[in-house]
Amino acid sequence: MTQDHKKLYIKTWGCQMNVYDSNRMIDILAPFGYKTTETADDADMVILNTCHIREKATEKVFSDLGRIRAQKQIKKDAGGKMVVAVAGCVAQAEGEYIMDRAPYVDMVFGPQTYHELPEMMAKVLGAYGSERVVNTELTTDDKFDKLPEEAESQGVSAFLSVQEGCDKFCTFCVVPYTRGGEYSRPVQQIIDEAKRMVDGGTREINLLGQNVNAFHGLDTIGATWGLGRLIREMAEIDGLDRIRYTTSHPRDMDEDLIETHGSVEKLMPFLHLPVQSGSDRILKLMNRKHTADHYRDIIAKLRKARPDLALSSDFIVGFPGETEEDHQQTLKLVEDIGYTSCYSFKYSPRPGTPGANMGGLVHEDIKSRRLQELQALLNKQQIEFNEQTIGKTLPILLDRKGRHEGQMHGRSPFMQSVHVEANERLYGKIVDVKIDQALANSVSGQIVTADGTVMKKTAA
Ligand code: 5AD
Ligand code: SF4
Repeated sequence: MTQDHKKLYIKTWGCQMNVYDSNRMIDILAPFGYKTTETADDADMVILNTCHIREKATEKVFSDLGRIRAQKQIKKDAGGKMVVAVAGCVAQAEGEYIMDRAPYVDMVFGPQTYHELPEMMAKVLGAYGSERVVNTELTTDDKFDKLPEEAESQGVSAFLSVQEGCDKFCTFCVVPYTRGGEYSRPVQQIIDEAKRMVDGGTREINLLGQNVNAFHGLDTIGATWGLGRLIREMAEIDGLDRIRYTTSHPRDMDEDLIETHGSVEKLMPFLHLPVQSGSDRILKLMNRKHTADHYRDIIAKLRKARPDLALSSDFIVGFPGETEEDHQQTLKLVEDIGYTSCYSFKYSPRPGTPGANMGGLVHEDIKSRRLQELQALLNKQQIEFNEQTIGKTLPILLDRKGRHEGQMHGRSPFMQSVHVEANERLYGKIVDVKIDQALANSVSGQIVTADGTVMKKTAA
């Protein structure tokens, strides 16, 4: 059997940062002859890029590893070798444990070490016998410097990692332990990457970071730039039409960034600003470093700068010590703010975080009921928002094929999913769409021409 390239299977869990990291790993391994494949069967290399945020994350990884172990054996019986790697945040948190429990895993490496993949591969595939590798260093100093330039087009809407790690230490969260301290990439590196993305066809860039609005990158003369200034500079790039950023912390929402929402048209009117709870008592226990009213003030300022701003948040219900009164305050905050789309979770302890040792655990049934109540309210707000857009004409960036023939998927400025009757040739274009239908998680509509007439499906 001849094969001109090696097969690389990467499974990615979790956040957009992991998706970005997986793409960089693909870029790093490409010069060594690796091309991605859809399944672990017969792969030469398997990477599980894991996420530690969700409950039972480690067990889920082991359950996948069990299957991969069998596939590795089949490959071995056929005279081949499959390199099995666990990357990402579970690797960072549980590296040695994974190596002990799963002897068939060849390497475990954390999120800040994947630029060293070629060296790690050399060790595993070494001519003088293979070595198992654990690499969970937490320094970010040179990770971004050593990454290759992106191999191909990143798509019309793409993520660009500008910041990594977090120093906030919310008591429920593993990120400061798995991703390490806050680190911002140098400004020029980001701008260069953005320009290459735009040259490759990208029209919308989503600036990515665990705590992205804490961005403080250095420019070439050693001055520090905040996120607002970076966004204004990005807005000067010809061919780049839309800018977004995610995820932010209320404490890092400075005046300059708030003003940027009002002054930069390319910055889309949508912001994901997690609040987690509406109760000051719980916010304190969570070590969030802000109160509910502080959050309300920030939202008021943002809306003053950009009145049509659509808002999104993350919520945790049932944090240790949460009473009915605390829960009501969360519902009240949601009523006061009015969101367009949110994520909400039941609290679950993460080993190694302060929350895991707190007393006052909330019963699962109560958590489930509170989550249901919160989600009912959030869903109602989301549907109401989607319904409000019926009859409006919005600029929609068509970013992929739709589910049905003759349909494209796109995004409104407010991040709504939009199904549009349109020909695939319009991929990557921003078209004016008159919204005619609203569902819970998406809206749909038809393209309109400059004079306001709705275009027929065939003409689009
Ligand atoms: N339990 C429940 N939800 C959590 N999140 C983070 N850690 C936990 C946890 N231990 C949620 C937060 C965060 C989002 C990414 O995941 O709401 O903003
Ligand atoms: Fe985790 Fe976000 Fe808190 Fe940082 S700010 S510790 S990433 S929840």
